[in-house]
Amino acid sequence: MRVSLKKAEQGLKGVSDMVIFKSPKEIEKIRLSNQIVADILNKLRKKVKVGVTTLYLNDVAEKLAHERGAIPAFKGYKGYPYSLCTSVNNVVVHGLPSKKPLLEGDIISLDFGVLFDGYYGDSAITVPVGKISKSAKRLILTTKEALYKSITKAVPGGRLSDISHAVQSHVEAAGYSVVRVFVGHGIGSNLHEDPQIPNHGKPGIGILLKPGMTLAIEPMVNEKGCEVEILEDGWTAVTKDGGLSAHFEHTIAITNNGPDILSEIIGS
Ligand code: MF3
Ligand code: CO
Repeated sequence: MRVSLKKAEQGLKGVSDMVIFKSPKEIEKIRLSNQIVADILNKLRKKVKVGVTTLYLNDVAEKLAHERGAIPAFKGYKGYPYSLCTSVNNVVVHGLPSKKPLLEGDIISLDFGVLFDGYYGDSAITVPVGKISKSAKRLILTTKEALYKSITKAVPGGRLSDISHAVQSHVEAAGYSVVRVFVGHGIGSNLHEDPQIPNHGKPGIGILLKPGMTLAIEPMVNEKGCEVEILEDGWTAVTKDGGLSAHFEHTIAITNNGPDILSEIIGS
């Protein structure tokens, strides 16, 4: 989601009165929604091939959600016109599905969310189209690693910015840059809840992490500069310098036993 500087600042000041805590029962409901998302992303991943259109992927995602009795969460959200975000190559996030076929060597981020039984699921992956360059592979791997490293910081007693710092340090050590204008977010019976979760910052600052928080952590990583531009359609966010961008997202719950990745495919 797009950063609100006021909200992001509150999070870093430790203002947590707007954070909605979830009971273990609610966390199980959020898990169900996220398992639907995970399963659909896994099916979409296998359909990503040279010649396939992103509109086709959107339609598959929508149909699979409906078959599961879930409502695609993005369609109509703040006017977003599709169910899936398909962000190809230099598109950072919120790429609009189209009739343009995917090409050999492209990378594509698939971001999907559903509402099921009153709770949201939200997750994203970046996948290759056919054979991709070594550098594109490294960008994807680094972004995924940054997500998983940051998730290890989502523990009771930690601070919000520990998550942010873990992303930034991993990404910058690899020579890439972290996008600032979009952030992760709390999630539950709303797609976007407090706190906002920046992907950069000093560690040890902001809201104290506690059991019952459910967070969608979503690093967006650029091969070159961190700057982003929004196209005239009002949605498509692209890198200013035309470099590649990758994106991964998991919804997690903070528990007494540490982070619980609700959008991880169970059994994988
Ligand atoms: N994962 C993205 C986010 O949390 C997807 C939102 S797309 C939108 O911001 F269309 F719903 F905005
Ligand atoms: Co999200």
